Amino acid sequence: MDTTNKTYSPADSWTEVILIYNSALKQIGTKLEILNDEFQHVHSYNPIEHIKSRIKSSESIVKKLKKYGYESTIENMVEYVNDIAGIRVICSFTSDIYKIASMIRNQNDLKILTIKDYIKNPKPSGYKSYHMLVAVPIYLSDRIVHAKVEIQIRTVAMDFWATLEHKINYKFEGNVPQSIKDELVESSHLISDLDAKMLSLNEQIQDSN
Ligand code: GTP
Ligand code: MG
Repeated sequence: MDTTNKTYSPADSWTEVILIYNSALKQIGTKLEILNDEFQHVHSYNPIEHIKSRIKSSESIVKKLKKYGYESTIENMVEYVNDIAGIRVICSFTSDIYKIASMIRNQNDLKILTIKDYIKNPKPSGYKSYHMLVAVPIYLSDRIVHAKVEIQIRTVAMDFWATLEHKINYKFEGNVPQSIKDELVESSHLISDLDAKMLSLNEQIQDSN
């Protein structure tokens, strides 16, 4: 059995790419559900509100490769497109985000490739979210391959903001008027204030129990 670990190029056909990335999403999804169930068991609450996952469409993959200046080959996809498999974890409180991130970091079979904390360092757009790029081993019949999964962890409020901002960008095809951009930045501050307020309220409730 080839257990080679040096490459993240696990597939040689499009259908195999989809099979592998779907398996990776299932693995990460199950891991997160187990952590959530265990948290419910030990602490009597769920850090995860809900989970959304998706495989990037072939059109979007090709578009991204073109943007980066790469040819549309399976090899380039696997090497350069980090979000073919994406999973979004929505939490109630900012503190839950760091709990989940730390539980993921502690899973020895996952390799953490990159972490981007856009909560501590929001994007100029106002975007806030915690991103982890991980490599997950997939056990096929004759070999083990590693597939990258982009995990985005954010609060319900951050998700609300990101979804609207994405829609606005789409509508204006990237040329969003400055006044709307400014309002988005302003609303991202309101989102942060709301998240802080909800966290503090929740802590007060916990303390009074
Ligand atoms: P891409 O932006 O995907 O090309 O990769 P990157 O290397 O810049 O990664 P990054 O972690 O910055 O962003 C990855 C993903 O996060 C994007 O595909 C979006 O889903 C999300 N994202 C990043 N920035 C923004 C933003 O300003 N607004 C919204 N709505 N989503 C964002
Ligand atoms: Mg980006």
